[in-house]
Amino acid sequence: MNGKISRQTITSKLPEVGTTIFTVMSQMAADSGAINLSQGYPSFDPPQGLLERVSHHLSNGVNQYAPMAGVPLLRTAIAEKTQRLQGRTVDADTEVTVCCGATEGLFSAIQAVVRAGDEAIVFDPAYDSYEPAITLAGGITRHVPLSIDGDDLDFSVDWQRLVDTVNKKTRLIIVNFPHNPTGAILEAADLDRLADIVRNTDCYLLSDEVYEHIVFDDVPHRSLLSNDELWERTMVVSSFGKTFHATGWKIGHCIAPKYLSEEFRKVHQFSTFSVNTPMQHGIADFLLSDPGFYEQLPAFYQEKRDYFCGMLDASRFKLQPAHSTFFQILDYSEISSDIDLELAKRWTRDAGVASIPLSVFCDEPFTGARLRFCFAKDDATLAAAATKLCAL
Ligand SMILES: Cc1ncc(COP(=O)(O)O)c(C=O)c1O
Repeated sequence: MNGKISRQTITSKLPEVGTTIFTVMSQMAADSGAINLSQGYPSFDPPQGLLERVSHHLSNGVNQYAPMAGVPLLRTAIAEKTQRLQGRTVDADTEVTVCCGATEGLFSAIQAVVRAGDEAIVFDPAYDSYEPAITLAGGITRHVPLSIDGDDLDFSVDWQRLVDTVNKKTRLIIVNFPHNPTGAILEAADLDRLADIVRNTDCYLLSDEVYEHIVFDDVPHRSLLSNDELWERTMVVSSFGKTFHATGWKIGHCIAPKYLSEEFRKVHQFSTFSVNTPMQHGIADFLLSDPGFYEQLPAFYQEKRDYFCGMLDASRFKLQPAHSTFFQILDYSEISSDIDLELAKRWTRDAGVASIPLSVFCDEPFTGARLRFCFAKDDATLAAAATKLCAL
């Protein structure tokens, strides 16, 4: 025995997982000097008032562990906002938990309810963190593709396919509206349809609503929190990173009925315990003093969407302006017949604009010729990218 571990290979618990496409494309953009519209983060800073409140707390002795469930003032601010925007009364003590970004919230929620052998349903294209978390919980991921109807460029839920997929083993359905990457949103009738489907089942719902404040054209965000029947079985995860242009802060929250929050907190307690304290205090102050900030986000991002799409009128791409989020899907079928992953890489290197291919978020081969471009960027960046895209 030389003291070394005898087996230096490991049977991976996540054999399918490699480096995320966001890291791959961002690295490629950096290497080739391309404009990076791939990863979803803003090129601008959080609001000054919020930065001041966080700095204040950093300098005033609020630097030790926060309570496991989150700073009480922040949970109260989240509960007040939820009441005001969704009409849902939630108990700040027992039904709101602050987590390390939506990613940790999603992970903890999945571990809390999915058991070995359970099935969890996701809608493709699906955000890439769901399936690994399901796999680690011992669950099996079932994929239901969003559909594109004929020449209509919008993606929508094929509820019949969901009906066909739900069975006795279904433990969890994960929904993500406003939807990354397609910008699809739900209407009130969709919530009723979902309620019909899960009624009389033992299926929980996990709603990833990180883009809750970025919905356009005066259309409301239909949170699962707004539906009485759905609320009884739903965990809603959100992220301050998207709402406050602060994706690097990794602070989010999970709102769920008490019995689900209790299980959520059991996982949260031992995956991370608590979330950084000065930022929680800063966000609480800012939420309570300036609720107007997130209310202007739709107009702010809609202007960027229209600016970017307006310039692309002169291009050969087909597009339907995004209904939500800060991502624009472009249909390149009149420019190239390449598969999207290859094309995204080639255009990053040769055309100087990085994007995200949709197929990497799909289980079934996705042949839709679509790329996702992030428009949470300053106007000069968007204009430079559009010029390059118009030349294709
Ligand atoms: C749909 C979706 N869910 C979750 C996340 C992760 O959010 P956070 O950065 O708060 O962990 C993202 C980030 O891009 C996202 O787009």
